Amino acid sequence: MTNSTSLVQSQFGVAAADYATSDVHARGESLGRIIELAAPQQSWRALDVATGAGHMAAALAPRVAGIVASDITDPMLAEAAKLAASRNLTNMRTAKAEAGALPFPEDSFDLVCCRLAAHHFPDLGRFVGEVRRVLKNGGRFALVDNVAPDAQQLPDASAAERDEATAAYNAFEKLRDPSHGHAPPPETWTELLEKDGFAIVAREQFGKELDFDSWVARMRCAPATVKELEHILTDGPSNLRTFLQPRRDAEGALHFTLQELLLVADKMA
Ligand SMILES: C[S@@+](CC[C@H](N)C(=O)[O-])C[C@H]1O[C@@H](n2cnc3c(N)ncnc32)[C@H](O)[C@@H]1O
Repeated sequence: MTNSTSLVQSQFGVAAADYATSDVHARGESLGRIIELAAPQQSWRALDVATGAGHMAAALAPRVAGIVASDITDPMLAEAAKLAASRNLTNMRTAKAEAGALPFPEDSFDLVCCRLAAHHFPDLGRFVGEVRRVLKNGGRFALVDNVAPDAQQLPDASAAERDEATAAYNAFEKLRDPSHGHAPPPETWTELLEKDGFAIVAREQFGKELDFDSWVARMRCAPATVKELEHILTDGPSNLRTFLQPRRDAEGALHFTLQELLLVADKMA
């Protein structure tokens, strides 16, 4: 077991039940939209990588022939199985799988999806290679993940300043969740996919508003870490603050915005 795998399992193992009820995960805007963009067909066999509590897999199950909800954290798989049972989704099963070594033969699936998880994976290139291997020719990959700033988010920053903001953003995420790996800017994803023989068929991006208190509570952050994260949001590097848009509501509660990228890409022969 690698260091990053055991970190992920310890972080998500204790938090599995919170992810089952998290609004961002159960009802986030990207869930409905990525399904629309992926346009699943009733005959398809699908795989959800890093399914967490199974929200994406459960939303897809009624629209496909069968779906495997996979993850490396057992308590998350237990939550996903519970969700499938509660909705009577008899075509959804769970499987333990690491994103960089998927335990499925080549050409197994018509659709592979992965939502709000790839920033934990130790090697994004390896993950994309595995997605390509298990997809049939012409098969579809649907990705949703948080991304770092690009020129659209920071129009006044130089390339070097954007790189600094990307590093600061990832450090901010890692402070809250030590199992966070790396969330790159959107272009890294499009380049990785195109290099590996995928054609991008849909791309969207939107800001996701987060309530700071529940965001830190979900990862059970220690009080000192909460303080440090709050300090970064209110007094941290200016390009990071431009990107995260911290603000207080009328009651004084802190909110900020993360960027979600949605990509749909087809495997070319
Ligand atoms: C935020 S949750 C996933 C959310 C879920 N996909 C959804 O849409 O609600 C992140 C998940 O990634 C899983 N994970 C992290 N690294 C992984 C890896 N290398 N391989 C497989 N799963 C991984 C964790 O166990 C965790 O369940």
